[in-house]
Amino acid sequence: MAEILRNGNLYHIRNDVISYVLMEMPGGVLAHLYFGARLEGLNAANLLRHANIPSDDGFSVQECALDRLPQEYPSFGLGDMRDGALTVEGPDGSWAVDLRVEKAETLDAKPVLEGLPATRGEGCAALRFTMRDAHTGLVALLDYAIYDDCPAVARSVKLVNGGEATLKLTRAYSLCLDLPDDGWDIITLPGAWARERTVCRRPLAAGHQGISSRRGASSAQASPFLALARPETNQDRGEIIGATLIYSGNFMASAEVSQFGVTRVLLGIDDRDFGWQLLPGAEFQAPEAALVYSDEGIGGMSRGFHALWENHLLPKRWMNRKRPVLLNSWEAAYFDFDHDKLLAIAKAAADAGVELFVMDDGWFGHRDDDYTSLGDWTVDRKKLPLGLEGLGKDVRSLGIQFGIWMEPEMVSPDSDLFRAHPDWCLHIPGREAIQSRHQLVLDMGRQEVQDFVVEAVSKTLKASGATYLKWDMNRNFTNIGSAALPADRQKETAHRYMLGLYAVMERLVAAFPDVLFEGCASGGGRFDAGMLYYVPQIWCSDDTDALCRVEIQCGTTILFPPSTMGCHVSAVPNHQTARVTPLETRFAVALGGSFGYELDPCKLTDEERAALRNEVDFANRTQLLRLYGRLYWIQTPFNGNDAAWMSVSEDRKEALFTLVRAMARPNAMPPMVRLAGLDAGRRYRVAETGEVFGGDELMRVGLCCPLPYGDAASLVYTLVAEA
Ligand code: DGJ
Repeated sequence: MAEILRNGNLYHIRNDVISYVLMEMPGGVLAHLYFGARLEGLNAANLLRHANIPSDDGFSVQECALDRLPQEYPSFGLGDMRDGALTVEGPDGSWAVDLRVEKAETLDAKPVLEGLPATRGEGCAALRFTMRDAHTGLVALLDYAIYDDCPAVARSVKLVNGGEATLKLTRAYSLCLDLPDDGWDIITLPGAWARERTVCRRPLAAGHQGISSRRGASSAQASPFLALARPETNQDRGEIIGATLIYSGNFMASAEVSQFGVTRVLLGIDDRDFGWQLLPGAEFQAPEAALVYSDEGIGGMSRGFHALWENHLLPKRWMNRKRPVLLNSWEAAYFDFDHDKLLAIAKAAADAGVELFVMDDGWFGHRDDDYTSLGDWTVDRKKLPLGLEGLGKDVRSLGIQFGIWMEPEMVSPDSDLFRAHPDWCLHIPGREAIQSRHQLVLDMGRQEVQDFVVEAVSKTLKASGATYLKWDMNRNFTNIGSAALPADRQKETAHRYMLGLYAVMERLVAAFPDVLFEGCASGGGRFDAGMLYYVPQIWCSDDTDALCRVEIQCGTTILFPPSTMGCHVSAVPNHQTARVTPLETRFAVALGGSFGYELDPCKLTDEERAALRNEVDFANRTQLLRLYGRLYWIQTPFNGNDAAWMSVSEDRKEALFTLVRAMARPNAMPPMVRLAGLDAGRRYRVAETGEVFGGDELMRVGLCCPLPYGDAASLVYTLVAEA
């Protein structure tokens, strides 16, 4: 049960599993004392002595005590020599800030973050500190929420100009977490296009380390996340703290080890491309950050985040709900299709039991390649003479749903939209526009652009009757500048873009409550908690090769649950790696998320088509378990030949086990794999073999897994508890 306890100047935020403790120092500086496993109480004397501060009433910000004090929302320049969370330029040109507590209050409800995605406040306790900088009049509202049902604390900061002069925010991070030692490894999720979210782990070292994105999107190259794990922490044991930002744009996640061997974690919008003018009385809301603690290893932290997103962030109407098994036309046809070809694919898909056919890129303007037409969302009658209406109707007559692709945030220089509104894209007047995939980025911060996008998407959905929209975004920002902002506010452009995008998503998901929106950014190039507030799933990667996908899906599930990952079976040789893997393994891997296909079923053999029918049936039968069960990575794919994972239902009566072996080895014994997450006291039947084993046996002795011959072999077992 989440609660907030106050003992004098000590604030203890806790639930059944974790505690977070803060202290108001004499004079009002807000100190951070603890984040970790639940405590019954805390005597601050220890921690103050550690910071070389004799007792709480002996504290003074003089003598640079701030450089040693662990703090909640510090800033640089008035004694603390470490990086701070906030810098504000005042009318005198200085940028130091000194926030002191004015008020602390427990709140009846978690405040809503206006204009930004954030965790919903059901089942939580909330605390707010009102802080003020006497010099500028700046007020900071520091909000904390702790949930009943997950080991997570959500934090956010709202800045209000309570002074009489205009202020300029030059850094407004969302989170600072000061920890009393540096005995941690830092884990981040760097990547690249088609190689998203690889797991990078290294020991903390003196100075700065971390990860960031200045690409205008959270990006394939970096995820707004870092974790600190004890060196001995592994997948299922040991302490770990994870921090992430509920935001989809530029970010900075850093850990600084100071001269005293203490660690400061900072997380927020990257300030290198940020500035915000705050007129007297105006407010700025920084994105929400979420912290999870676990002493059950990386897997424990991941399940903590999964529970936080599933219970408090993902769109409610998709909670625990079945997703349609889909077939997407991209790798089946690319730009080369017409009505009849798509209908034939849709028919073969429907025959295999697929429930939703998605027409990908290439249906509008004169888009026969990626050089043209983004922004001109009118159907290409040469390809689709019956229009979206006709195709939608014909697909539905097969007894399946129709879905469609758009890339609404972009414009091609070769488009009527660009010719009519050349200033609607991000640009710097007088500089050559840098194209990427032959396209430019619309300035989503502008109201008229937002209205255009809402109208274009609405018209498309209405005309086609689509019940699914794949929302793509295929390039990063360059030429960052907005024609709608004056020179001294250009640095607001990137954040205004995100606010505009979120406003558009908000309008669209409200207007089309029955449409399933799937996010995409050249695959998983904007896979973050910000987008997941609006869309329940995101196309995980453009790399559909089964062996690569195991790694990408493993990295992604460090932070996000299986239900959020779009995972498709594609054709072989694989279009990204040219690797040929068995259909069974492509299937086994795609079962790791929201399941679908990315191939032309008309090109399959009769035998493969028959296999598809069984696959769709199996995917459907196991769907709720796979998408919403508790995920255990028994063996991650990063340091060996085998990868194994399990989804276990909440009541531990059902489980799905998957094993993938990359390279065949001759003369090898079949692996014995020790399962996880089961009920030791129950007996489980392996449906595929009919054998029955005790849960204790399966977890302590293991399960013998005879894999088929050949490279990229796999095995999927369903376990059901005996009555
Ligand atoms: C990038 C996406 O990741 C692909 O799945 C596909 O939709 C293409 N864009 C279409 O241009």
